[in-house]
Amino acid sequence: MKFDTRAGTNPIDQLKVIGRATDRIDGPLKTSGTAPYAYERSDVAPGQVYGYVVGSAIAKGRIRSIDLTEAKAAPGVLAIVTAADAGPLGKSKRNTAKLLAGPDIEHYHQALAVVVAETFEQARAAANLVRVDYARGKGRFDLDASKPAAKMPEDEPDKRFGDFEGAFAAAVVKLDARYTTPDQAHAMMEPHATIAAWEGDRLTLWTSNQMIDWAVGDTATTLGIPKENVHIISPYIGGGFGGKLFTRADAVLAALGARAAGRPVKLTLTRPMIFNNTTHRPATRQRIRIGCGRDGKITAIGHESWSGDLPGGQPETAVKQTELLYAGANRLTAMRLSVLDLPEGNAMRAPGEASGLMALEFAMDEMAEKLGMDPVEFRVVNDTQVDPMDPKRPFSQRQLVKCLRDGAAHFGWARRGLPGRVRDGRWLVGMGVAAAFRNNMVQTSAARVRLEQDGTIVVETDMTDIGTGSYTIIGQTAAEMMGVPLDRVVVRLGDSRFPVSAGSGGQWGGNSSTAGVYAACVKLREAIARQLGLDPATAVFAGGKVQDGGRSMPLTRAGALVAEDTIEFDKLSKEYQQSTFGGHFVEVGVHAMTGEIRVRRMLAVCAAGRILNPKSARSQVIGAMTMGAGAALMEELAVDKRFGFFVNHDLAGYEVPVHADIPHQEVIFLDEVDPISSPMKAKGVGELGICGVGAAVANAIYNATGIRVRDYPITLDKLL
Ligand code: MOS
Repeated sequence: MKFDTRAGTNPIDQLKVIGRATDRIDGPLKTSGTAPYAYERSDVAPGQVYGYVVGSAIAKGRIRSIDLTEAKAAPGVLAIVTAADAGPLGKSKRNTAKLLAGPDIEHYHQALAVVVAETFEQARAAANLVRVDYARGKGRFDLDASKPAAKMPEDEPDKRFGDFEGAFAAAVVKLDARYTTPDQAHAMMEPHATIAAWEGDRLTLWTSNQMIDWAVGDTATTLGIPKENVHIISPYIGGGFGGKLFTRADAVLAALGARAAGRPVKLTLTRPMIFNNTTHRPATRQRIRIGCGRDGKITAIGHESWSGDLPGGQPETAVKQTELLYAGANRLTAMRLSVLDLPEGNAMRAPGEASGLMALEFAMDEMAEKLGMDPVEFRVVNDTQVDPMDPKRPFSQRQLVKCLRDGAAHFGWARRGLPGRVRDGRWLVGMGVAAAFRNNMVQTSAARVRLEQDGTIVVETDMTDIGTGSYTIIGQTAAEMMGVPLDRVVVRLGDSRFPVSAGSGGQWGGNSSTAGVYAACVKLREAIARQLGLDPATAVFAGGKVQDGGRSMPLTRAGALVAEDTIEFDKLSKEYQQSTFGGHFVEVGVHAMTGEIRVRRMLAVCAAGRILNPKSARSQVIGAMTMGAGAALMEELAVDKRFGFFVNHDLAGYEVPVHADIPHQEVIFLDEVDPISSPMKAKGVGELGICGVGAAVANAIYNATGIRVRDYPITLDKLL
């Protein structure tokens, strides 16, 4: 089905099931520990043995030789695979570095061997006996030192509109400030893990992956086998955050190990390996220039960001939101990319905007102060209802002003005091605000829906649930469309034998995958109506029955039927800029003696289209707000600039917020229905929740203390 933005109402608009706060249908499995994750599948692939990955001990250079003699002789060892005996391997365009290195080493802990043994302990012990002779090369590990060699990324040219330099020079009030964000790790709870089993030349992977169809293609490309021979199964995922968008070493090395050992292989990357072996969010250096008139109207806005990645890698797209968030006739956005030999940078938790807004929304706070304006009002004055660089292109919906105003009223923003002046005992108290912005991407997505003899509706799609609530909103969509209660719907996800969905990434998954289910349900309704001799155009599906022209029949009368369809989004929707908006409000306390920073209150007001399930959407947003607090206050990979690796590569050294760090969080969803976005009239919402939070925290710290720390994370030593 081609989505037609002019189609008007559809059965989803009844909102009998959709739009209701609904418990996650996978909740009991998750909370009772009975949702099986990839590594726990002892019920599949009999005869499983264990793989253990050997990671490179150098960051850059070459393997002179590998001595496997001792390792091969160790107890329980069944096979060892290195690049020398893996056969020819390809590389997917979605991987920057090779997943099995050799002889060249591209980054620290890049995989260079997998040891397969009867037990995990035997595999690990033997892995420690693999002797590698390295020729260490000279690597580039220091982002700041790499600046002179930084280049404009090929596919991300500078964007100019009007005369930025001229307007900035002429501005009455101006800000020119620099901000830094560090390298960060996804630190999802479930590690990368895979069980691989071969049947002849056909491979099955039980794995943990956000994008099933990408995984099929990338696994096939890497191993040099046909796509049809790869079966991916990933029904439960213990967090992805972007780290599992791609096929990684666990999947490929489990497959290679299983082929060599002739047995199914179970393999997890150990926690200390994940930080350097897999991807991370690259550090940024950002410069923001804003010029205004006395009225607070932006006349010039410039955002430059520079980051690093391996050769052939990508920039962190931190300037993107600045193209769209505020009005202003003269604009510049530019990115620079340095070549670094640190581990691979890639998408993490709202890539681009999450880092970019930490700078932009901090700068907006500084600029409001220079203007003597309230930070909420400064943002309101600079709102735009059209793409500032293409005024004929309106936003499909844009309620940023309402998010900010409602949030301010609800949060008690009027009580905000002057910087450093509000005390609560020994605590300096401050409030901060930031706008949230994240684009709404829509992606082709397919599903199959079946009416069973007993009236059960079964939905199958390769969509994943990475802890986001996909099972539930997909079930709600089918229930709404077919006129049955939610408990009559069975949802099956995360299997490459199911129709190809949008997958989970870029906050496109919820809206796009349910739209695919909608399309398949439209077809199934037609099939049922036809089967029963009713008019598909006027038939009403409700209460397990279908009614038309005075006739009413139970769905089961139609017998077993199946329908499959794909939602495709046409160009019409591109005439509009589709984005999601929010306002983040944060109150912090900073201890006047020690500098200890505590977040005291958080509020997010979100405008993100129809909210399909306010309960799971709220969970998404509070999780994202927690990540934002982590980014503001704790999360930082420490780079060893001599040897080129992330030093704090476990959850003891890489700090993320715990419950005790996070206060009561509130989320308000504005009533919004976006008919341009999809037949669901929904948008993405998960990643919106993180966007801007870091700056709101930073701005609150400034309001509490009068100290601007432009270098994230804001740890207490930077306040003393
Ligand atoms: Mo997301 S960082 O696109 O999984």
